[in-house]
Amino acid sequence: MIYRHTPVMLNEVIAYLKCEPGKCYVDCTIGGAGHSRAILDKILPDGLLIGIDQDSDAIENATHVLKPYAANTHLFHDNYINLPNILSQLNISRVDGIIADLGLSLHQIESSGRGFSFLRDEPLDMRMNAESEITAQDIVNNASAGHLEKVIREYGEERWARKIARHIVAVRAGGSIRTSRELAQIVYEAIPKRFVHKRKIHPATKVFMALRIAVNKELEVLDSFISDAVGFLNPGGRICFISFHSLEDRIVKRRFLDLEGKCTCPPDFPKCVCNSRKIARVLSRKVIRPTPAEIKINPMARSACLRVAEKLID
Ligand SMILES: C[S@@+](CC[C@H](N)C(=O)[O-])C[C@H]1O[C@@H](n2cnc3c(N)ncnc32)[C@H](O)[C@@H]1O
Repeated sequence: MIYRHTPVMLNEVIAYLKCEPGKCYVDCTIGGAGHSRAILDKILPDGLLIGIDQDSDAIENATHVLKPYAANTHLFHDNYINLPNILSQLNISRVDGIIADLGLSLHQIESSGRGFSFLRDEPLDMRMNAESEITAQDIVNNASAGHLEKVIREYGEERWARKIARHIVAVRAGGSIRTSRELAQIVYEAIPKRFVHKRKIHPATKVFMALRIAVNKELEVLDSFISDAVGFLNPGGRICFISFHSLEDRIVKRRFLDLEGKCTCPPDFPKCVCNSRKIARVLSRKVIRPTPAEIKINPMARSACLRVAEKLID
């Protein structure tokens, strides 16, 4: 298998993670193993990398490309939400750094055959983990018009969500919608033509993104993961999130603020009673973006947002 993906903001991530020999890191989304390999190069000879991905293609590829580092690597085909179990299996209670580079790899978009791209004609699957239950086809063919509209509006931030949802329901009454190309055509038909032509992106971009987020429960998983993950860091350890979607970035930003323990007492209280603790310090006051030079080489990086926090106390 040829697995294509270029790691995003690699230098920035490696610098923020303060990788040094002997330290232990978790790559929650190993993908093409670009970040993992760079981490391993810094932590040898006695450091440890724990790599996770819910896509078995990524784990198969990482097993192959990280063979030279096998003695320093543990790979898990799993959802990163299960990090607590993974660390307990390894008898590890604390690590020095965690990275989660969210979203899709180029391999998944271009070669997985799972309908992530509206430019291809593939079964409408969109599961990152082929063992999970719900596919995009299930949602498109069975969800109510109201639910489809909600998914498309909330996750895709698509202005024409209602029209698209209703058109999907009308088309599927004549037979199931099975492929990415069929869905892309339905979306195209639903959006008023004068608006389709004004769009800078493909008319189906937002709907495909929304379905993928729903199928893989991406936002729910991220939201409940962040504070748990920080709990596994040593004091001084750092956590990096790279997101590609404004809703993901908003979740990371909000959870990081929670970890900074801002007092939530009403302003007229004479003293603080909420007992909020400052567990971490946010290092990325402003979101970190890829340089124009990186975007030129790797256009997939253009919407990436990096946020970093450092654990202060246990
Ligand atoms: C953008 S790629 C990561 C690329 C990687 N950093 C590299 O250097 O090649 C995102 C990866 O995260 C995986 N992924 C997304 N959500 C996940 C989750 N909740 N648990 C585990 N893996 C996940 C995807 O399957 C995909 O392989």
